[in-house]
Amino acid sequence: MKLEHVVPWGRTLEEYQRMFNLGEEDKHKKILGCGDGPASFNAELTQMGGRIVSIDPIYQFSKQQISDRIEQVRPIIMEQIIQNKGAYLWNQFESPLHLEQTRLSAMNHFLADYDKGKVEQRYVHGSLPKLNFADKEFDLALCSHFLFLYEEHFSLQDHIQSITELVRVSKEVRIYPLLSLEGTQSNYLTSVIEHFERLGTKVGLEEVSYQFQKGATKMLVILANE
Ligand SMILES: C[S@@+](CC[C@H](N)C(=O)[O-])C[C@H]1O[C@@H](n2cnc3c(N)ncnc32)[C@H](O)[C@@H]1O
Repeated sequence: MKLEHVVPWGRTLEEYQRMFNLGEEDKHKKILGCGDGPASFNAELTQMGGRIVSIDPIYQFSKQQISDRIEQVRPIIMEQIIQNKGAYLWNQFESPLHLEQTRLSAMNHFLADYDKGKVEQRYVHGSLPKLNFADKEFDLALCSHFLFLYEEHFSLQDHIQSITELVRVSKEVRIYPLLSLEGTQSNYLTSVIEHFERLGTKVGLEEVSYQFQKGATKMLVILANE
């Protein structure tokens, strides 16, 4: 991955809690954050005593490189959001400015934790569909705003391989959102569900309390076979 192809943009622990219905019991689990990028989820959860490893291809870059790239892409992303304002629900964020401030604060929190987290192997350079972890090393794998959302760049086969890999390394997998960037249900969702049902894997949709992209109200939950 080249730095000029990276579009860093990260969410907070509070958003992860609502996107994935994370309860008290989940905070004690060993968690894999897949495609966490510059989210502050890892930094905040670690500060609260959680056990978490995040993987992302951007973790091959230095703190300075990621920070510079955030500054480059920030006005472009904000311009797109303002042009597309009607596609989002403006209740948790009052305005695009409020959204930008929240995202920047999350990404600054990530950057402040990044070098320490790399030493502690909480930020690991890695990419789906192949992960360098042992079978069932994690209790819970979370994937926010990568699978399904970027279906244009990742085929159905890539999705099935990636989720198969997440189920290999984790007892449970939760994925959110299930819409593409167009704002409609991902073309791959039904085929992915059918694929895992055929294998006898427990797979289903669960309502969540988070919604920013309009209509993004559900997560996919997959439970690995015993
Ligand atoms: C829109 S960001 C979401 C960041 C974070 N999960 C959040 O919700 O705030 C998508 C992330 O997916 C990462 N990504 C891209 N290709 C990937 C791959 N093959 N495997 C895992 N992550 C990938 C990107 O580097 C980026 O950080």
